[in-house]
Amino acid sequence: MPFWWSKPKKVALLQQVTLFEGLSRKQLEQISRLSDELEVPPGKQLATTGDTGKEFFIIAEGQAIVTTARGRKVRLGPGEFFGEMSLVDGEPRSSNVEAATLMRLLVVGHREFWQLLESTPTLTRKIMRTLSRRLRDAEKAVSA
Ligand code: CMP
Repeated sequence: MPFWWSKPKKVALLQQVTLFEGLSRKQLEQISRLSDELEVPPGKQLATTGDTGKEFFIIAEGQAIVTTARGRKVRLGPGEFFGEMSLVDGEPRSSNVEAATLMRLLVVGHREFWQLLESTPTLTRKIMRTLSRRLRDAEKAVSA
């Protein structure tokens, strides 16, 4: 684990991620245990359309660009997440995701993703809300 991400620092970082707003310290510690930290340079490909998806990513710092199968670009920043679709339905990655800047991410494996959703209903609701919004946006983009 890098020196700047020792356990208390990791929890402090999690406290700043808007996705985790309102969670207790105990819940944050659980997320800290279930996730790995990852730092990537700009240009790093984090998801590739058609690949099997094995991880869920939460952005702590930096920006990513999602390029959907129809070529639409969506920018994601701190507090946002990606990779949930493949983990939820078991289908291949729907889009490419690339780091637009240096990024710090939290990465959650498949089994840990479901553990997290089962133990933290607040998080489950937020992920469902975002999924629903992404679906509506995709529908709008198709009919535009
Ligand atoms: P997944 O399909 O697992 O891998 C690519 C990810 O890109 C996908 O999960 C979502 O997290 C993300 N993604 C796909 N479409 C959109 C969108 N319209 N807006 C934001 N993120 C998206």
